[in-house]
Amino acid sequence: MTSSTLDAPINATETHPSLEELWMPFTANRAFKRAPRMLVAAKDMHYTTADGRQVLDGTAGLWCVNAGHCRDSITAAIRDQASIMDYAPPFQMGHPLAFELAQELARMLPEGIDHVFFGNSGSEAVDTALKIALAYWQSKGQPERVRFIGRARGYHGVGFGGTSVGGIEANRKQFAAQLLPAVDHMPHTHDLSRNAYSRGQPTHGADFADSLDALIEKHGAQTIAAVILEPVAGSTGVLIPPTGYLEKIRATCDKHGILLIFDEVITGFGRLGAAFAADKFNVIPDMMTIAKGITNATVPMGAVCARHEIYDTVVNEAPAGIELFHGYTYSGHPLAAAAGLATLEVYRSEGLFERAASLENYWADAVHSLRGLPHVIDLRNIGLVAGIELEARPGAPGTRGFATFLKCFELGVMVRSTADTIALSPPLIVEKAQIDQMFETVSQAVRSVD
Ligand SMILES: Cc1ncc(COP(=O)(O)O)c(C=O)c1O
Repeated sequence: MTSSTLDAPINATETHPSLEELWMPFTANRAFKRAPRMLVAAKDMHYTTADGRQVLDGTAGLWCVNAGHCRDSITAAIRDQASIMDYAPPFQMGHPLAFELAQELARMLPEGIDHVFFGNSGSEAVDTALKIALAYWQSKGQPERVRFIGRARGYHGVGFGGTSVGGIEANRKQFAAQLLPAVDHMPHTHDLSRNAYSRGQPTHGADFADSLDALIEKHGAQTIAAVILEPVAGSTGVLIPPTGYLEKIRATCDKHGILLIFDEVITGFGRLGAAFAADKFNVIPDMMTIAKGITNATVPMGAVCARHEIYDTVVNEAPAGIELFHGYTYSGHPLAAAAGLATLEVYRSEGLFERAASLENYWADAVHSLRGLPHVIDLRNIGLVAGIELEARPGAPGTRGFATFLKCFELGVMVRSTADTIALSPPLIVEKAQIDQMFETVSQAVRSVD
């Protein structure tokens, strides 16, 4: 399919710029700056490091480079658009590519979800979706519906809205004093005692959805605007929904007229072997947040995709004038729109979502081949996603996972560690031999880290 060699010359002896001034995100800045891991180029399945090593990308960057790196047609589309029109204001003005991309997305989205509001990231998409939910209930004459229900261990980006509905304690505690007040969380669905080593969806745990009924009982359905969850939680360590769980959540939301938002920022664009998780699980939400793979991560872009009825209520039933007081300077940016159109064309013409589906069994076998390795306490897989959960070191949670990530990087494979779970989510162009390399490397790393 694609070549893994890189012909751009890399000067291995080049010195770094000063590392001091940059305040790095979600990074142990001081430790990184003592021992930096610098990436300088990427092509297809590989990164090149500053010291000239090839590193196999086991994570599609940050779950986002689904078509592989530096794809010619996508870079050409961005380059061409940059010289035609670099920017156009999106408020009270438009440019054709943003409309075209919205139309292309609407064609791919599940039936009934046919309107797209652009932002620049997953975090913006989440906060936008929450605002649209509030605007919807105001327009419906039910302004008391303001409460959001998220989930423990959920990750919905870093805006105040996303942090509030998110359920990762480490991300919340520095800001806990000022998060959104009317938010509650369901428990997560991770249950090693019943589901360890599940292949695909775990069998047990649809009953975790009953917690939503309990919250509805507690607060009253008439106060709840929306439930938001990741169909497969990624950032918190690959939590796969038990069979029947999402269906139950959907049924409960329907029963009480509550909006259901799927955060598909990582599950969108083929990651699970279908266009979206909604397709994979055949559970259709009312809104979806998407980002990352929409442009193959080349130009930042995110979006909220909403059911027709939501757009109709907020827009078509509003008095004349601006209907939603929300938007970003870069909503539907021309370079992002050009990148998005070219990316969707790559997905389509190369059949990458189908390719991911066809590799799912091979992938699952590779994941579960790690069973029995020291410190491995669970293996999880779905689509082209793997979670390898390691036993935490006593009193030092996360350190074994991080040491394993470092070892894999040294051995030439990029993985992610979140706490003590190693996550893999390669570009969908991955070859079987590269899957073998990833799991052989993880196996070697796990065995060498005590
Ligand atoms: C499910 C989910 N939602 C939202 C986000 C935030 O996206 P961004 O980092 O583009 O703001 C992420 C990022 O990983 C994510 O995984």
